[in-house]
Amino acid sequence: MKFFIDSAEIAEIKELSGYGLLDGVTTNPSLIAKSGRKFKEVIAEICAIVKGPVSAEVAATDYEGMVREGEILSKIAKNVCIKLPLTMDGLKACKYFSDKGIQTNVTLCFSAAQAILAAKAGATFVSPFIGRLDDIGQDGLSLIEEICDIYSNYPEFKTEVLVASIRNPVHITQAARIGADVATIPAKVLKQLVSHPLTDKGLETFVKDWASTGQKID
Ligand code: E4P
Repeated sequence: MKFFIDSAEIAEIKELSGYGLLDGVTTNPSLIAKSGRKFKEVIAEICAIVKGPVSAEVAATDYEGMVREGEILSKIAKNVCIKLPLTMDGLKACKYFSDKGIQTNVTLCFSAAQAILAAKAGATFVSPFIGRLDDIGQDGLSLIEEICDIYSNYPEFKTEVLVASIRNPVHITQAARIGADVATIPAKVLKQLVSHPLTDKGLETFVKDWASTGQKID
């Protein structure tokens, strides 16, 4: 499973990329607004830190506007992945960019039917938002299962399932059991993955016992 970070904060992207855990980055207009920074500058900086796909989302909602903005964004760096909404115009723009060999991420996917359309449009990634489905009382992980099942019936579908809107570590472990290709994870949740009270307690004991030996490893 590939790990992307869902963030537009340079400091946290740098920090987590230093651990060798990041295969890519996703941003969205809300994360860019939260950063308070200029969109193209942030994307350029992220692309220089992480070599994998960096999703940059168009702001336009019509086909011509998406193509115009996507062209501009794709020139920032080779690893920019154009993020497009799951609408008819977004799918058309997805086809346009995938035909040109430019990576695409079709976002705001909330149904298996939408995911089939994204695959037919040649998307590199489709982003089902599982946390937002959970928020309205639907089971986000069931959608991941459904999409992975459907895609496995059609080897000609090359689109990767990118699990988005992740809220907790269980979302990640369950998505991995299902076989999703990618998880895009907020920094806070990524850090939660490592923590276990027995790890902390065990390490504390080992450090204490080692000190009592008076030895050094040299
Ligand atoms: C994915 O690409 C989106 O940026 C993100 O996962 C949305 O998450 P949210 O529902 O927490 O805003």
